Amino acid sequence: MKSKQKLELTWVGKDNRPRLEPRILIEDAEKSYHAAARMSETDIFDNVLIHGDNLLALKALEAEYAGKVKCVFIDPPYNTGSAFTHYDDGLEHSIWLGLMRDRLEIIRRLLSEDGSLWITIDDHEAHYLKVLCDEIFGRPNFIANVIWEKSDSPKMDSRFFSSRHDHILTYAKDIERARLARINTGEVASHFSKTDEKGRHYYTKPLRAMGSGDDTREARPTMYYALIAPDGSEIFPVRPDGVEGRWRWSPKKVQAEADKIEWVNGRQGWSAYYRIYADSSTGRPPETIWTHGDVGSNRTSKIEIQSLFSDVEQFTTPKPERLIQRILELASGPGDLVLDSFAGSGTTGAVAHKMGRRWIMIELGQHCTTHIVPRLQQVIDGTDQGGVSKTVEWRGGGGFRYYELAPSLLEKDKWGREVISKEYDAAMLAQALCKLEGFTYAPSPDVYWQQGHSSESDFLYVTTQTLGPEELVALSEEVGEGRSLLILCAAFRGNAELWPNLTLRKIPNHIRSRCEWGHDDYSLNVANLPQAEVKAAPAPQARLFDDGDVS
Ligand SMILES: C[S@@+](CC[C@H](N)C(=O)[O-])C[C@H]1O[C@@H](n2cnc3c(N)ncnc32)[C@H](O)[C@@H]1O
Repeated sequence: MKSKQKLELTWVGKDNRPRLEPRILIEDAEKSYHAAARMSETDIFDNVLIHGDNLLALKALEAEYAGKVKCVFIDPPYNTGSAFTHYDDGLEHSIWLGLMRDRLEIIRRLLSEDGSLWITIDDHEAHYLKVLCDEIFGRPNFIANVIWEKSDSPKMDSRFFSSRHDHILTYAKDIERARLARINTGEVASHFSKTDEKGRHYYTKPLRAMGSGDDTREARPTMYYALIAPDGSEIFPVRPDGVEGRWRWSPKKVQAEADKIEWVNGRQGWSAYYRIYADSSTGRPPETIWTHGDVGSNRTSKIEIQSLFSDVEQFTTPKPERLIQRILELASGPGDLVLDSFAGSGTTGAVAHKMGRRWIMIELGQHCTTHIVPRLQQVIDGTDQGGVSKTVEWRGGGGFRYYELAPSLLEKDKWGREVISKEYDAAMLAQALCKLEGFTYAPSPDVYWQQGHSSESDFLYVTTQTLGPEELVALSEEVGEGRSLLILCAAFRGNAELWPNLTLRKIPNHIRSRCEWGHDDYSLNVANLPQAEVKAAPAPQARLFDDGDVS
């Protein structure tokens, strides 16, 4: 039988998938920073900054944060082939696609069901990235390709076109659940002419899809189904020309938003309408062209970054704060969690912090320490009054914790055998094994064998000792009936089947084949590539205000 074909992008090495070790994170308390005093009831202190490769870091976050991130913004290396001060942007196309695919897959798992992803990219990879994202997120979950006017003037030395824009590809985890805010204009338009029982203004639109070219059953078969009218009759979407049509909403959405459906019994029988409320629609929908006047340009961000870092080398590819503000306004609310796994100079965290969002940032380069930490310190102290500070009336407060990725749990000994790393103490070992086995690390202060749990009655205990029959009998009695314990130990003596509430496994044997151990940098393929030849570079002062193609 012929195998089912699908539309997909292929590239060299597409089938190679890393088997990632779920690392634990180690806080570096000296680099963590918290405001000395509370500024408000809503100050957020549990923000996370991770220094390290984002593939391992995203994997490290997965156990705790899967399904919890409302908005992901990333500004990855654009793969333009030019060498930058802080990272090498010149990846070969296939490596770049593989690198992005592996990261985007985890990002998707981290997103909440109503969350969205926003990626800035230029013409070099935008169209390949679109197809890749379609594959990972599903084509229906594409929201828009926003054009951001990144430059406010032409580059006179351009050979063909002077490129003035970047793309912002936007995807929903689930288009049916995603909600974007409107751009606030502060007015209620006159067409919200109806009022519901609570006094809210609204207008209605037909629930049958109309005039979009794909408004037939044939075009969207799953959107053709019966709705039940108030008299109990089944109503199917039918176009005025008698052709079978389709609804705008899926059955799932009809169920979730049943209270917005309004029925009208006209000459043709029952017709379904849906309500559009003024409170969810004040302002206007975001448009797909964002001008530099509205959200800033590369020139804006260079000036912002220059005023933040007068005494360290400038970060060359920051985004303007207003651009991130626009995205966070549309895609998140106060208290929501925002993630940027290509943090650069930390713009996303800085803006998220000022807007009262919780944030996680990941950055591989040393500028994690030299740029992000001091930038966020200025935000927390309230001394950063640039960017969006004045518009959001930012006064300071909150904090963040700085983490490094732990070393690999297994290392090679002098005979080339994998053994538990000497850098792991007992607590780290228990934490790492909990993560690997899908348990929550929560050591009980009273019961030594309750180091982690997967449910109320299933526990995990790690020891580097050899357990004998007496200890196992005692453990089994303590665990008792109705509870179970996974024991990861160096070795044990006795017949494991004698204790049905205990599961005994030897470490490291039990975990050896689980993942790629000792693999520290999945961006190595980036770093190992030769640096692109630096062509006659313009003088630094000239570049500072040159509004050309960066990122
Ligand atoms: C275009 S910059 C992001 C700039 C950022 N939006 C800002 O406003 O400052 C891309 C960043 O991704 C980082 N990066 C590249 N590969 C990475 C990886 N594997 N893990 C973590 N960060 C990485 C680079 O070091 C660089 O700082």
